Amino acid sequence: MQVALKIWRYDSSTGERALKEYEVDAPEEATLLDCLDLIKDRYDGTLAYRKSCRMMICGSCGMRMDGAAVLACKTRMYEIAQAGRVPVISAMGNLPVVKDLVVDMQPFWDKFRAIKPYLEPGYEQPEDGREYRISQEQMNVIHKESLCINCGCCVSECNAMESNPEFLGPQALAKGMRFVGDPRDAATVERLEAYNSEHGIWECTRCYFCNERCPKGVDPRDAIAKLGAESVRLGIDRDMGARHAKWFIRSAETTGWLRETELVPKTQGVVASIKQMRFALSLARHGKVPPPFPPHVAKDVREARNLRKLVRMQDRQGALGHVQGERALERLAHGHAGETLEEIYARPGAAPRPYLPGDETEGAA
Ligand code: SF4
Ligand code: SF4
Ligand code: FES
Repeated sequence: MQVALKIWRYDSSTGERALKEYEVDAPEEATLLDCLDLIKDRYDGTLAYRKSCRMMICGSCGMRMDGAAVLACKTRMYEIAQAGRVPVISAMGNLPVVKDLVVDMQPFWDKFRAIKPYLEPGYEQPEDGREYRISQEQMNVIHKESLCINCGCCVSECNAMESNPEFLGPQALAKGMRFVGDPRDAATVERLEAYNSEHGIWECTRCYFCNERCPKGVDPRDAIAKLGAESVRLGIDRDMGARHAKWFIRSAETTGWLRETELVPKTQGVVASIKQMRFALSLARHGKVPPPFPPHVAKDVREARNLRKLVRMQDRQGALGHVQGERALERLAHGHAGETLEEIYARPGAAPRPYLPGDETEGAA
């Protein structure tokens, strides 16, 4: 097949930048990385990019295709070539470009090191001398985070890092969760304290681009959510972001709505609220703020309360409330055509049946 690519060439020593077009004859199974190899081999030996494993495990070949981060060795070109598209290939975002598609990974590794990416052992060796065993449920909490290959695709897409390069970022925080969720680690509180500092978890804007672009399914945003939930569970809630999250839950539980008028005093305190009074009054004049009294209570508020009750009943506080175990994913993938709810919950290994509105007895699980 004929594959055409436009590549942003760049040389940091001269500052020269140019968009160059190339076309190669490639086998139908060729990936983007194969095409770059062909271009370098046949047309221009000065083209710079990183690669090593060619099978999605070393994390070297992160770059952007049409503005979105990809692993070059994972990206098949057949459909793109058949559609007659000419994608634009450029270096990853949020990292300084050294040459063409090669970025300086030093800022990435600095953040990585800052979160202490190693186990601080704090477990007792089993008496029988055997290995320390972790339950499947505990492993599920950090299963996805363990899949990270340090490619930087999530960092490339992170909006929060773009506006504040100091932000720890999705990869480092996902790695942090990998150790916070590890029952053998003894530094959970110290880690969470550090990740709750300035430029930590609460600076994430929840844009979900990191989940969208991660080629290994790590879902870094979910890892950050787990870190937030663990922080709140352990009482590390001094940050405004943590107080904001707590108020969301309280508000949803009591009224089924987010009571926006109380959001500012509850998260920022009374002094900050008084300072923002003029702004609040102008919002109210334009009908943007509902009157605080009497509080509006949703008709089906019981459903919100039951959800909260369910989380408590299943003891799914903290990161456990965010687990997307393999079984849950499998169920999502295959649906439940033809099965009644009773049959689904009677499957071997199924999650406990939730307490739903209308159930006769609480704990029908
Ligand atoms: S969800 Fe957060 S960490 Fe992920 S890309 Fe967006 S701002 Fe960055
Ligand atoms: S979380 Fe995903 S995108 Fe980010 S470095 Fe790890 S593997 Fe790459
Ligand atoms: S070359 Fe190793 S991940 Fe692509």
